[in-house]
Amino acid sequence: MMIFSGSRSQKIAEKITQILNFEQGKISITKWPDGETYVRVDSNVEGKDVLFVETMFPNQNEAFMEISLSAEAILARGAKEVTAFIPYLAYSRMDKRFQTGDALSIKAIVKFFKAIGINKLITVDTHYQHVPVGKFDLFGLDCLNLSAGKILFEHVKENFGEDLLVIGPDLGSSEMIKYATGEAKAMDKIKICPICRSDIDLCKCEKKERTYVHTDIKTDYNFKDRNVLILDDMIATGGTMLKVIEKVRSEGAKKVALAATHGLFLKDSFEKLKNSSDYLVVTDSIETPVSHVSVSSLLKKFL
Ligand code: R5P
Repeated sequence: MMIFSGSRSQKIAEKITQILNFEQGKISITKWPDGETYVRVDSNVEGKDVLFVETMFPNQNEAFMEISLSAEAILARGAKEVTAFIPYLAYSRMDKRFQTGDALSIKAIVKFFKAIGINKLITVDTHYQHVPVGKFDLFGLDCLNLSAGKILFEHVKENFGEDLLVIGPDLGSSEMIKYATGEAKAMDKIKICPICRSDIDLCKCEKKERTYVHTDIKTDYNFKDRNVLILDDMIATGGTMLKVIEKVRSEGAKKVALAATHGLFLKDSFEKLKNSSDYLVVTDSIETPVSHVSVSSLLKKFL
């Protein structure tokens, strides 16, 4: 298999090349003066299976263009097929039409990838898919979701300590936690009525008042004197992690470690999370100062 990478994932591609002994292909990805993306495939790919690696952050839209134009150029040079390895699949949180008129973003993107000729998509802990490891159909494109849950858990045990209570910040994370640790322990977000302060499902207030709600966190776990690891698929604004840190600390947790597959760390969330936790780690699906775990090792069993 031959491997190429976009401009966000050169390091991951080098690691994959070392692990799997792939042939590294040459590709030039630059910009025209007006900002348009220019791609040229310099290696002969005739009859080859190609793995194109490119994560979709930062600058999701530009990453989308790099993936699409690269796949087009690789196939035009005669490659047999192109598999896209997109560790962070942007737009996957927009996986349904939340309001009338919303674009179903992930569908549009994936349909485009398929139309351009991408044969298969491999991604990691995509928000779209709650089955941690496995194949699934994403709007007609064959996809494989891998999970970094186990390698993050192992890393935290080695570097922070073995005796850990591992918890996900919401029910959506429970399958990832189960895959990583064997037990699905996750918090539940509850909606509180601001009028009567009770759980929204139980409150008797007028319907129109029920729309003005905020969320709180519900948990049945005992954090007292425990070292806690909060594990999630992604950190974006950091708001979710900060809420959960506050909760476990208020219930007597000793030390708190944070781990997530994708560290977007928007605005000042990196500093905030570093300051409010005792350990912070993410994978290299997006390069950050705390990307101490590599998603490159996940591919071994599948390629
Ligand atoms: C939510 O369902 C996700 O799993 C993450 O918990 C969420 O996207 C994190 O976002 P933020 O860091 O902005 O709270």
